[in-house]
Amino acid sequence: MKKVGFVGWRGMVGSVLMERMQQEKDFADIEPIFFTTSQMGQPGPDVGVEVPPLLDARDIASLSQMDIIVTCQGGDYTKAVYPELRNSGWDGYWIDAASALRMADDALIVLDPVNLNVIKDGIASGVKNYIGGNCTVSLMLMAMGGLFNKGLVEWTSAMTYQAASGAGAQNMRELIAQMGAIEKSVAAELADPASAILDIDRKVVAAMRGDSFPTENFGAPLGGSLLPWIDVQLESGQSKEEWKGQAETNKILGRSGDTLIPVDGICVRIGAMRCHSQALTVKLTQDVPLDEIECMLAESNDWVRVVPNDRAVTLKELTPAAVTGHLHVPIGRLRKMNMGNQYLSAFTVGDQLLWGAAEPLRRMLRILLE
Ligand code: HSE
Repeated sequence: MKKVGFVGWRGMVGSVLMERMQQEKDFADIEPIFFTTSQMGQPGPDVGVEVPPLLDARDIASLSQMDIIVTCQGGDYTKAVYPELRNSGWDGYWIDAASALRMADDALIVLDPVNLNVIKDGIASGVKNYIGGNCTVSLMLMAMGGLFNKGLVEWTSAMTYQAASGAGAQNMRELIAQMGAIEKSVAAELADPASAILDIDRKVVAAMRGDSFPTENFGAPLGGSLLPWIDVQLESGQSKEEWKGQAETNKILGRSGDTLIPVDGICVRIGAMRCHSQALTVKLTQDVPLDEIECMLAESNDWVRVVPNDRAVTLKELTPAAVTGHLHVPIGRLRKMNMGNQYLSAFTVGDQLLWGAAEPLRRMLRILLE
């Protein structure tokens, strides 16, 4: 059995990965070895099979005993350890949730329901680094892969509504704390049906702008508001999250140069917990009837679900509250737009920790074990 080392398995993405691997009984097919940056020698986690005590995640000699390393430890760890490990002559497979190596020439971005052919070619040609994609990009392609892979997308604009989880566990806590602080600031008025709504609104805004409102992680109020900037600022005027849309979509699809598909939009943080949503405008390469588009989308993988463009079904099935914790990726609000028959609108929602982070890595491990 292959020796598989896990790093960063206790964090949020790592914990979701561990849960999914146990649900799918993946640990039965590998020899798992757990690494730690702080608790060397302590017992490993209970994953349903015997595991040795925790090893040092910075010890190159221990890491180089692994056939495969799966890391959710983050980009700083990757940058610190990966080059040294390769320089030591290690030739194993590196599966990584962090973005540090994503755009490297000797790495592929993994999303096998969309790019299994790219992954298989990579394995055959000796690629050893398989990196999980940015969550919005992966979720957009899980929903839209049918149209991209049929060459029907001339360009797309993705306007995102991204959950707190994408910023980290502390940010999820802060979002809830912000919502709680808002409610507390007007609890008495809310209990009194005769209180004036504009007074309530004034108090809420004062609380949100007040010094004691918790904004340490987001740097601004998110609860009751939104943040139209995610990640650092680039010279192009895009945020880094926006830049990733085109760069990663095309890398996942194996496109470059003349075949590059333009992807752009504005990425916005909203007060959802762990589901990213996206409103898409698609310029099609040709006028394809809507029912054919729906068929192509629905058939492209086992997880995408086309939601009819109907108000009641949309509000029931196409929201973060409905999709959180599920692997299926619904896409709806499908219709041709006023701009013309080659312009399609769509809205999609997906769990940012599942297909947006852990699931592509879990499945890449399975592919390497085949
Ligand atoms: N960068 C994403 C976000 C999450 O901030 O929502 C990880 O891909």
